[in-house]
Amino acid sequence: MEPYAFFKGEYMPLKDAKIGILTQALHYGTATFGGIRANWDEEKQQFCLFRVWDHYHRQLNACKILNIHLPYDENDMAKHTVEVVKRTGFKQNVYCRPLAYKSSEAIGVKLHDIDDDWFVLATTLPPYLGEGGIKCCTSSWRRVSDTQISTHGKVTGIYVNSALAKTDANRAGFQEAIMLNEAGHVSEGTGENIFVVIKGQLVTPPPCDSILLGITRDTVMQLAKNELGMETVERAIVRSELYIADEAFFTGTATNVAPISEVDNRPIGTGETGPITAKLQKLFMEVALGRNPRYSEWYTILKP
Ligand SMILES: Cc1ncc(COP(=O)(O)O)c(C=O)c1O
Repeated sequence: MEPYAFFKGEYMPLKDAKIGILTQALHYGTATFGGIRANWDEEKQQFCLFRVWDHYHRQLNACKILNIHLPYDENDMAKHTVEVVKRTGFKQNVYCRPLAYKSSEAIGVKLHDIDDDWFVLATTLPPYLGEGGIKCCTSSWRRVSDTQISTHGKVTGIYVNSALAKTDANRAGFQEAIMLNEAGHVSEGTGENIFVVIKGQLVTPPPCDSILLGITRDTVMQLAKNELGMETVERAIVRSELYIADEAFFTGTATNVAPISEVDNRPIGTGETGPITAKLQKLFMEVALGRNPRYSEWYTILKP
């Protein structure tokens, strides 16, 4: 059992996959990554690779923006991902990390006339933000806007912005940072989308507030509508609304649905996981494990 990769057209143990130190993407952040879960169902002894096609569709859109041309489509990428998960030999939750990147070993900031490549690796991932309610702060770093770098793809260069916010938050004793955009609207966490419940309404920032269009965000919106009869309102949220929200939670592939217990030392609601968050958390975990047949188009089931 070991982490595995599909790299330069071949399957190999992760420890054997290496890139040169002059690789363009390493110097200039000219790459786009993904994060896809293969959730292990202990009862059924199988993995559910969750919304893999949608993850690759988003990554290929980011490739368009970054002028990255790959010889793969969503189906090829999904096929290689299934194979690397199998080759790990793991029987536990596996996290897949694809990266499409500017692969020429050349100096010079640009996107054109440079080779491109794509790999995917599969490894294990401990709970991303720990267990239980998350204590957050509002970051003094503003979320990068789409006028600076496209925020609709997971462009590696953007994550310097997230890393600055995350480290400051952690050093100040918080688990996660909530970033505002240049207009002062709540945007998202450093690697998660955010939802609040205010007066029984489920609210999340709109696509134009510098957010990544999260696949977990979309999943939660569909589950809220279909299973709880709740339409999600996409509208600008201001900082004060976070403090007075009845419930708040993050969504993301690494995090799943994670309740926020405090923002800037103020408890959210009672400080305990709220009822809507708890319902959505449960509904989400069912689909993430491939257990709800209504959403079978989201699942790629694979036996180790
Ligand atoms: C900045 C940012 N926002 C939101 C998300 C959540 O996206 P998804 O639900 O597709 O994992 C991520 C995921 O890594 C992210 O990096």
